[in-house]
Amino acid sequence: MAVVRVEEVTKGLKILRVDDRETAYFEALWEIPEGVTYNAYLLETKEGAVLFDGWKSQYSQALIEALESLISPDDLRYIVVHHAEPDHAGSLPALLRWAPKARVLGHPLVGKMLAGTPGLNGRFEAVRDGGSLSLGGVELRFIHAPWLHWPETMMTWLPRDGVLLSCDAFGSFGAAPGVFDDECAGCPLEAWVRKYVATVIGRYRPSILRALGKLGSLGVEPRIIAPGHGVVWRSRPRWVMELYERLARAEPVEGKVLILYASMYGSTERLALALAGELARRGLKPVVHGFTDKRRPLIAEVIADALDAEALVVAAPTYEAGLYPYLRLVIELICEKAAAPKRLYILSTYAWGGAAVKRIRGIMEGCGFETMAFIEAKSVLESQSPTDKIANIADEISKVPSTRQ
Ligand code: FEO
Repeated sequence: MAVVRVEEVTKGLKILRVDDRETAYFEALWEIPEGVTYNAYLLETKEGAVLFDGWKSQYSQALIEALESLISPDDLRYIVVHHAEPDHAGSLPALLRWAPKARVLGHPLVGKMLAGTPGLNGRFEAVRDGGSLSLGGVELRFIHAPWLHWPETMMTWLPRDGVLLSCDAFGSFGAAPGVFDDECAGCPLEAWVRKYVATVIGRYRPSILRALGKLGSLGVEPRIIAPGHGVVWRSRPRWVMELYERLARAEPVEGKVLILYASMYGSTERLALALAGELARRGLKPVVHGFTDKRRPLIAEVIADALDAEALVVAAPTYEAGLYPYLRLVIELICEKAAAPKRLYILSTYAWGGAAVKRIRGIMEGCGFETMAFIEAKSVLESQSPTDKIANIADEISKVPSTRQ
């Protein structure tokens, strides 16, 4: 039974939110034990209603039931599709059946991307960037915001109430107990935003900066940001905009060092943990994720931690004359989602032939990381960590980077 919440955001505007606790892997990729929400918004005016976005298709019936408690089908004049991805547009066929008079508005690409959707033919109207619509005395201004996170993405600005309906942008993971950001004491909102930006929008981070610049040039200073995922930002809309900007720039958290390792029999783990201890002793904040024969990290968390780390340490054994496979996958994902010109340190062990260092450098230098130092050690049974070398690397990492000088 889906948890559905319907609450007033501002006069005439309601959020219709469903909490998805069934999806374990968002986009069939990213681990989300915190859940995710799909947020639609209903604007009611004296000349009819506008629905902004919808829910994932599995919740279509629940969305129709929520709407039925608020309006009759003939009241729904428009459905604004900010984004054609099925986590928002999946319920569109059901909405079109339920409200046969509703027109669909969206970026011109939406018409092409959703062509063939049952019931859509002849009902789609493209809206231009900067276009507007007035309904019952409420003005809607449409702002194209491409690549947040597909090419057709768009936002709607309601100047009367200072509400920005932003869909994926300014969204976050997490099915918080309250609808609003100020109803969520104890929720790790920053971590949920960071993970969402890193994994979902990560590849298109420059588009965040373009959108923020565009909103600024249009004089859009939202009083409330109403995204398609996560909490509604009514107490600190500026905070989430600034957080998005920092993440778009992969701005590091001072002293944060990601240590990512894989270890089959413990040799590489000993190096990685010894370095973590040395870094902590120097006042840095190592964040450690390791693949071992007993556990695996959440890959989404690793990518999120890569995005705002000051430096990265990648530690891996050589595996079949190449790179340990899961670690190869994760560093390729870091390159796709969280690449930045940051310092890279590599630790590796091998039994009969080293190759991991070369492979890690090949991948990560290819996307902007700069290898500052590495240790490649032959693993010896019951060996101790090469203490001096680890301490030297810790000293190197702890040097104040040029970005902080
Ligand atoms: Fe929430 Fe890009 O869809």
